[in-house]
Amino acid sequence: MEPIIRVRNLQKAYGNLAVLSGVDLDVAPAETVSVIGPSGSGKSTLLRLLMTLERPDAGALEIDGESPWTMMRDGQSVAADERHLRRVRGKVGMVFQHFNLFPHMSALGNVTEAPVHVLGLSRAEAKSRAIEYLAMVGLEDKAEAYPAHLSGGQKQRVAIARALAMQPKIMLFDEITSALDPELVGGILELLRALAARRTMTMVIVTHHMAFAETSSDRVLFFDRGVILEQGSPAEIFRSPRHERTQRFVESILETVR
Ligand SMILES: Nc1ncnc2c1ncn2[C@@H]1O[C@H](COP(=O)(O)OP(=O)(O)O)[C@@H](O)[C@H]1O
Ligand SMILES: [Mg+2]
Repeated sequence: MEPIIRVRNLQKAYGNLAVLSGVDLDVAPAETVSVIGPSGSGKSTLLRLLMTLERPDAGALEIDGESPWTMMRDGQSVAADERHLRRVRGKVGMVFQHFNLFPHMSALGNVTEAPVHVLGLSRAEAKSRAIEYLAMVGLEDKAEAYPAHLSGGQKQRVAIARALAMQPKIMLFDEITSALDPELVGGILELLRALAARRTMTMVIVTHHMAFAETSSDRVLFFDRGVILEQGSPAEIFRSPRHERTQRFVESILETVR
């Protein structure tokens, strides 16, 4: 099967700081991949490049068989126009650590906004779709609530519903439990696990929760200093890592949660 994400020798620097130093990655449709690794190793940068929020310095990136940044015209590869970029970007959704909901809109309003303004759905269609996705994240009874009246976990569920309502083929999650009170983390991980089990989307999940990565993903990537140092099945990464750095990282995280 053709990969839905294809990355070759992807490079990104900020000034003199090389953040991605040649990343290669294929992700299959409906695959769930967890990304682990030390702070500063480039995990968020990879996700921002996959979301096309930033441009790579070098290397190739394809989403569903297309480069977001170039397109074909008269048999030639030329710089993408805004319309091409928006179309490819529409295949990807992202949820961040900080949910950034519109404070002046209800949960329903937050989930309805982009399908109306970006996809051109009618208010009525967008509303019924939003109700469906709010139900999927367990918030059917909070549709009319404003963000100020929701817990951190509920706000993050709204943010997830908002991304899902755009019906992306690929969903990227960047440490989405990191800003939550500890007692709310389990419920969000449970939701991620349920979404992955549906097998309707490709999911790339940056997480510090090793037990989650081990039990809920098809494949685990260990990021270190701007490259994927090691990748494999959860059993390979957690039970028999090939690199000492992987082993040390996994052990250091396991110790902190005990
Ligand atoms: N916009 C930016 N400008 C300058 N440096 C950045 C920027 N974004 C990230 N960095 C730096 O790039 C490195 C990798 O960051 P990041 O991808 O956020 O790592 P991770 O998500 O693995 O913690 C860090 O040293 C970070 O400070
Ligand atoms: Mg990060």
